[in-house]
Amino acid sequence: MKNITAAITGVGAYLPDYILDNFELSRMVDTSDEWIMTRVGIKTRHILKGEGLGTSYMAERAIRDLLEKTNTHPEEIDLIVCATVTPDMFFPSTASLLCYKTGLVNAFGFDMLAACSGFIYALVTASKYVETGTCKKVIVVGADKMSSIIDYTDRTTCPLFGDGAAAVLLEPNKNGLGILDSITRGDGEGSKHLYMKAGGSAYPSSEETVKNRWHYVYQEGQAVFKAAVTKMAEVAVEIMERNHLTADDIRFLVPHQANLRIIDATAHRMGIPKDKCMINIDKFGNTTAATIPLCLWDYESRLQKGDNLILAAFGGGFTWGSVYLKWAYDGATFTK
Ligand code: UT7
Repeated sequence: MKNITAAITGVGAYLPDYILDNFELSRMVDTSDEWIMTRVGIKTRHILKGEGLGTSYMAERAIRDLLEKTNTHPEEIDLIVCATVTPDMFFPSTASLLCYKTGLVNAFGFDMLAACSGFIYALVTASKYVETGTCKKVIVVGADKMSSIIDYTDRTTCPLFGDGAAAVLLEPNKNGLGILDSITRGDGEGSKHLYMKAGGSAYPSSEETVKNRWHYVYQEGQAVFKAAVTKMAEVAVEIMERNHLTADDIRFLVPHQANLRIIDATAHRMGIPKDKCMINIDKFGNTTAATIPLCLWDYESRLQKGDNLILAAFGGGFTWGSVYLKWAYDGATFTK
């Protein structure tokens, strides 16, 4: 019997309408378009506005887009894994809310928290349900409303992040397409460099936590940068080597979009030229769990059946990982 692999058979996405550009940001904090473009590479980011709208609002729309594009009925879905660090609520999970909102009446779901590596962790986890034959149709959605945990008086973090959601459909494949290898790593020692201190059980919300601004992302940029350039490239190169892939074999590197300099360093270590590197950080910023599926969505029309892709991410935790997959369909056949 042929091995079953889990293949991505469609991508859907949602980006909120409001666009926050560097000029507006430079009126909010002491920054400039020049600094943000040269140090990070972001021009604009989308921001979800509206009372009571959370991550599930965007994820729901990304899933509806995916179901429509792939002609899939909600009742066909067995499982949904939602990667996010900004769930609507602690509980119930955003995945549960999404099952209800999108009519996935036969599915169960759970959230996966691995920050910027969230989509890779979720994709790898979900793929096991498909490979073992436990599930036939699985949705993996990466979604984050980063604007809900960003301090817009802190110039070191507020230019970096944006809001967005993107979802993929995973289905069994018997022709050697789909996810062929993965590496997932973590090191909690890095937790001191990137975190949101309060709101959990260690520091429940209080007047003091609000006053101290502990409900916002705290990041020691340089420490995270150093670890990111090393670790992201390390796993991407390791997965290439152990699958005997050279740069020529790879159609696209799909990197997490945190900083253009991190992306460039990773591509350079892998020997991948820039035109084979998915980049949309300039438009969307760092949408945390959504960056990689948003890249797949953005570049979908250029992808062809059999293309070799390497996904790679690094993020809070620390967490990092890489996936080697063979793309399963001609993207040009889908219209956005
Ligand atoms: O996705 C999750 C994982 N996160 C990451 O991968 C992010 C990794 N880190 C980074 O991408 C970069 O470290 C940052 C983009 C966060 C910062 O860039 P940097 O080149 O490491 O800057 P820096 O922190 O070393 O700061 C350099 C200077 C400082 O001024 P002084 O001390 O040299 O006078 C900062 O105060 O830039 C200043 N600075 C700014 N200036 C204008 C920091 N933020 C800004 C700003 N506008 N927004």
